[in-house]
Amino acid sequence: MATESPLSTFGAGKVILLGEHSVVYGHSALAGPLSYGVRARGVPAKKCQLALPATLSRAQRALLTGAFARAAKLVGEPAVKVTLDPELPLSVGLGSSAALSVACARLLLRAAGQEPSPKEAARLAWEMEQEFHGTPSGVDHTTSAHEKLLLYRRAPGAASVGRGRSVDSPRPLKVVVALAGERSPTKVTVAGLRARQARWPERYQRLFAQIGRLAMEGAKAVEAGDLEALGDAMNVNQGLLAALGLSSPPLEEMVYRLRGLGALGAKLTGAGGDGGAVVGLFVDPEPAVTQLTRLGVRCFSSQLAGPRAS
Ligand code: MEV
Repeated sequence: MATESPLSTFGAGKVILLGEHSVVYGHSALAGPLSYGVRARGVPAKKCQLALPATLSRAQRALLTGAFARAAKLVGEPAVKVTLDPELPLSVGLGSSAALSVACARLLLRAAGQEPSPKEAARLAWEMEQEFHGTPSGVDHTTSAHEKLLLYRRAPGAASVGRGRSVDSPRPLKVVVALAGERSPTKVTVAGLRARQARWPERYQRLFAQIGRLAMEGAKAVEAGDLEALGDAMNVNQGLLAALGLSSPPLEEMVYRLRGLGALGAKLTGAGGDGGAVVGLFVDPEPAVTQLTRLGVRCFSSQLAGPRAS
């Protein structure tokens, strides 16, 4: 992943291979870091401040300022001016807010004279994530801070962060991420599902538990180097996400496109809803990226884990 100079820090985006949404209800999710993320840069200043990107709406500016102030206060508001440089499409389900939170957390800790461990960066980033999402599961910022493929489970109680177990892959784990249109904010999709599960709790809990089992089976498949089994778990997970009301025609169409291009498994990733990102598992992703790009689809490939070509 990217190297860091003293006042330039990085937070990785993430991709959830298995288990989004059910992770909010205490089940496992399998997620890995992307090589794209958000970079934060800091210069000495009279007071601790965040330079806001001009493109943001008034509401986004207020949210970002509040989240940054919450984290800054916890490290004694070091005298630094922070600017952000996102390399990741924002608000499509790739963990841009978590990446931003981790980049800011690392920068604030460094500016305060501390060398941040992944755990400390995650702890501070969690403060910002709660401002952005209310009661997130914590899978996004934990994956970003640890920069590893993780089998993650949230700790009981909204006030605590969950735990991620590192999942080692003997084979390169390569994905294509393709964007399938605009989507509603994560908060809205999560709230819609919460209302449905409150009305029909047994039915929905059954599906959440099935998805959690798929995430655990997927982690085992990764460790055994069985990419076909991981791909199958992703396909089944997509069916269950559709059953939960989280898929839509643009997402389904992209899922089938990726499968048609040779994906071992493909599914929506992140919050889903009326659009967003789709992830496909590939042995060799580049021909699919070339083909999709030719068709005008915004996409990229990334390696989430496993040995890299030297
Ligand atoms: C968002 O990237 C993943 C969700 O499961 C929400 C969360 O985990 O907080 C939809």
